[in-house]
Amino acid sequence: MKRTSLSLLLVVALLSSFACERRGDGTSTAGGETSGPIKVGVYGDLSGQTSSFGQSTRNGVAMAFDEINKAGGINGRQLTMLFEDDQGQPAQAATVVTKLVNQDRVVAILGEVASTNSLAAAPVAQQAKVPMITPSSTNPKVTQVGDYIFRVCFTDDFQGAVMAKFAANTLKAKTAAVLGDVNSDYSKGMTQFFEQEFNRLGGRIVTKQAYTQTDADFKGQLTAIRSANPDVIFVPGYYGQVGVIAKQAKELGIKAPLLGGDGWDAPQLFDLGGEALNGAYMANHYSIDDPSPSVQKFVAAYKQRYNGTAPDAIAALAYDAAMILADAMRRAGSTDSTKVRDALAQTKGFAGVTGSISINESRDAVKPAVVFELQNRKFVYKETISPSGSDATAGAAPAASPAGATAPASPAAASTGAGATTSANTNVNTNTNTTTP
Ligand code: PHE
Repeated sequence: MKRTSLSLLLVVALLSSFACERRGDGTSTAGGETSGPIKVGVYGDLSGQTSSFGQSTRNGVAMAFDEINKAGGINGRQLTMLFEDDQGQPAQAATVVTKLVNQDRVVAILGEVASTNSLAAAPVAQQAKVPMITPSSTNPKVTQVGDYIFRVCFTDDFQGAVMAKFAANTLKAKTAAVLGDVNSDYSKGMTQFFEQEFNRLGGRIVTKQAYTQTDADFKGQLTAIRSANPDVIFVPGYYGQVGVIAKQAKELGIKAPLLGGDGWDAPQLFDLGGEALNGAYMANHYSIDDPSPSVQKFVAAYKQRYNGTAPDAIAALAYDAAMILADAMRRAGSTDSTKVRDALAQTKGFAGVTGSISINESRDAVKPAVVFELQNRKFVYKETISPSGSDATAGAAPAASPAGATAPASPAAASTGAGATTSANTNVNTNTNTTTP
C-alpha cells in the first residue's frame, strides 16, 4: 500500500514538472518567449493604509502601457500589466511577487512604493533574476538588494539632506524635532539623513518622537515636541498619519512649521489635514506646475483619463518606470530577463516626466528634488534643489553606494554640469525661486 501511494506521488510529480516546462515554452529563463503579449508584473497597495500609492502606481503604468501598445507595442508585441494588491504589507508584497515570478512568469516587475515593501519583495525578484524597477521607493537599501533591482527616483540621503538644507538655509532654523514612523524604513532613513545634514549645518535635534501607522492619536508626542519648542518639526511619514498630525499639532497650538518628504504626497492629504497644513513644507519628485511641454502634456492626458485627478509624484514616476522598461526591452531586442536587466543598467539621459533619468552604477537615478509650501490645499512650488557634484569629501551618504560608483551623467536639470557622484546628496545647490518654475 505504502509503495503504491509513493509511486503515484512520483508520477504526479513527474507529470507536473513536464507541465511546468511546457508552460514556459521550453525556456528556463523568465521572459524568453518571443511572441505573444509581454507580461509585466506590478504590485502595490490597493486596500491598506497606503492605498493611494497603489492606485497611482497602477494608473501611471496603465497609461504608459496603453500609449506604447497604441503605437505598436514593443517590436510588434503588446504589453500586459498583471497587477497584484499587497495591502501595503511587507509579507504580502513578498508573496505576490513570488506569484508573479513563479506562476505568471512575468518578464519584469514594477513596484513597490513604500520602501519597506520593496525591501521585502526585492530578494524574490533578485533570486529569480527578474528585473524589478521601483518607481518611487527612496530608501538607499532597496537597490542594494542586488543587480536586478533598479529605481527611477532619487534616494533619501539626498531627499533628507534637501530638507535639512531647506530648514537651515532657507528657514534659518537652528533647532528641529523629529516625529517618525518606527516601522518604516523610509521614515527611519529620512530621520537619519536629515539629522546628519542638519547637524553638519550647525542645527540641533531637540527631541525625537515615534509613532506607528496604526496610531490615530499623536497628542502625547506632539505635547513633548511643544515643550521642546523647536524651530521646525520634521515628519518623515506617509499622508495617512501626516494629515492627522498636522490637525492635532494645530489643536495643541503648535506654530513651528512641519517639514516632510515625498511620503506626504497623495490626493487625500488635504482631506485629512485641511488648512492645518498651511505653512508646511515638503520635498517631492516633480511639480504639476512645471511649464515644460512634456510635463504639461502628461498632466493633461492623465487628468483626461482619470476624471480630472491630477497625477501625483507616484503616478508620474510609475509612468516613467514603465516607459524606461519599454525602452530597455526595445534596446535589448528581447524580453529575456538578463538582457533586459543589462539594457536597464545602460539607461542614460532618458527624458522622463520627472526629469532626465540616468541609471548609475548603484542602479539609482540621480535627479533634482522640488520643495513645496502647502497653502490652501495646494502644493505651491518654492525651490528646485539639484544634486551637485563631485565633492566626495563632503562627508557621508554612507548607505548610498555599496561600490564607490563613479559619476553618471548629470541630470538635465542640474545646471552645474557636475557629474553627480553617489555621495552627491551631501552637496546641493539651491536655486531659489519663489514663483512657479
Ligand atoms: N519614497 C517613499 C518610500 O520610499 C514612497 C513614496 C514615494 C511615497 C513618492 C509618496 C510619494 O517609502
